[in-house]
Amino acid sequence: MHITNWGIIGTGTIAHKFAQGLKAVPGARLQAVASRSPDKAAAFVAKYTAAKHYDTYAALVADAGVDIVYIATPNNLHKNHALLCLDHGKHVLCEKPFTLNEKEAAEVFEQARNKNIFCMEALWTRCLPVVEKAKAILESGALGVVKTFTASFGKINTVNPENALYNRQFGGGSLLDRGVYPLSIALYFLGHPLEVSGNLSLCATGVDDQAAIVLKFPGGVLATLHSSFSVDLDNTVKIYCEKGVLILTAPIYRPGKLKLHTYAPAENLKQKIIKKIKDKCGGKTIPVAMQGNGYNYEAAEAMTCLRQGLIESPKIPHKDSLKVLNIMDTIRWHNGLFYADENCS
Ligand SMILES: NC(=O)c1ccc[n+]([C@@H]2O[C@H](COP(=O)([O-])OP(=O)(O)OC[C@H]3O[C@@H](n4cnc5c(N)ncnc54)[C@H](OP(=O)(O)O)[C@@H]3O)[C@@H](O)[C@H]2O)c1
Repeated sequence: MHITNWGIIGTGTIAHKFAQGLKAVPGARLQAVASRSPDKAAAFVAKYTAAKHYDTYAALVADAGVDIVYIATPNNLHKNHALLCLDHGKHVLCEKPFTLNEKEAAEVFEQARNKNIFCMEALWTRCLPVVEKAKAILESGALGVVKTFTASFGKINTVNPENALYNRQFGGGSLLDRGVYPLSIALYFLGHPLEVSGNLSLCATGVDDQAAIVLKFPGGVLATLHSSFSVDLDNTVKIYCEKGVLILTAPIYRPGKLKLHTYAPAENLKQKIIKKIKDKCGGKTIPVAMQGNGYNYEAAEAMTCLRQGLIESPKIPHKDSLKVLNIMDTIRWHNGLFYADENCS
């Protein structure tokens, strides 16, 4: 079996989950890990059995044994870390949001294209079998055309200026941290919107703790999307079609189940009552098998692309990462939220 050698830079929360996920990917090998802290790097390597650990990210990208680097650093560093990898000929899988804004992402993707190197945003949800199954059902036409789409990601946090989520310098805010999921998933199912509007509420630290977005797509399809640090939202995706509703249950980033409610007219009162009771119980569950912790699917997708000599993933194409950032830029700038040294002229 062909082996793909992975490197990881940054050893925080998500890096641990990704390293765990890699264990479930046939042909994946964790070659090296880099942390600014030698102790953290050594502990990480011991836990996930990597061959090498480095005290600097520059040392990892210089390792000839590394094929592809997973970037798990704060949002504001993604651009420079992606460029660092590309400059050393390493393929890239970079955490979401891909960069702080569309301009940064365009720079990274241009470099990847110029060097003919694979580069992908780690929007793992798009690679999950349950999400792919939902798309296949919609594309089959069985539910008729999509009319309305809703999606949300909100979870209560405590306002804390020390936390990167609330810090403008780190590219914090609910839109970039959470809104990126409903947005990217909406584009996955519906394509690119014709019109965009949205609002943010800014909290004491200057970033948004809530965002609301409305998108209009060809054919009059409307999507309403929410993100929040202030409240627990229902964190589902609901796709309302002519003949039924498809629901990806919470949590939106790793949907638990795929459910279907159909609108087929009941023939008599008894059937209507039975259908109503069934719908209250959550409709019909469509079984979808899942393996690993979910992060394995994005790693497997990157490896499939490498084997096929692709420089972008058909599941998370560059144009979608760019469009998601373009929409977030539009909404942020309209609401006066600018990130460090962001030039929006
Ligand atoms: N896909 C998902 O499900 C998911 C979930 C959560 C977060 N994320 C994304 O993953 C990225 C990392 O999030 P996280 O929750 O893992 O954050 P985290 O726990 O704070 O880890 C970030 C890591 O980045 C490294 N780093 C480099 N420069 C840093 C700096 N100046 N300040 C702080 N850390 C620095 C650190 O690793 P070393 O000390 O080892 O160098 C740190 O542990 C973010 O972009 C976030 O949006 C994705």
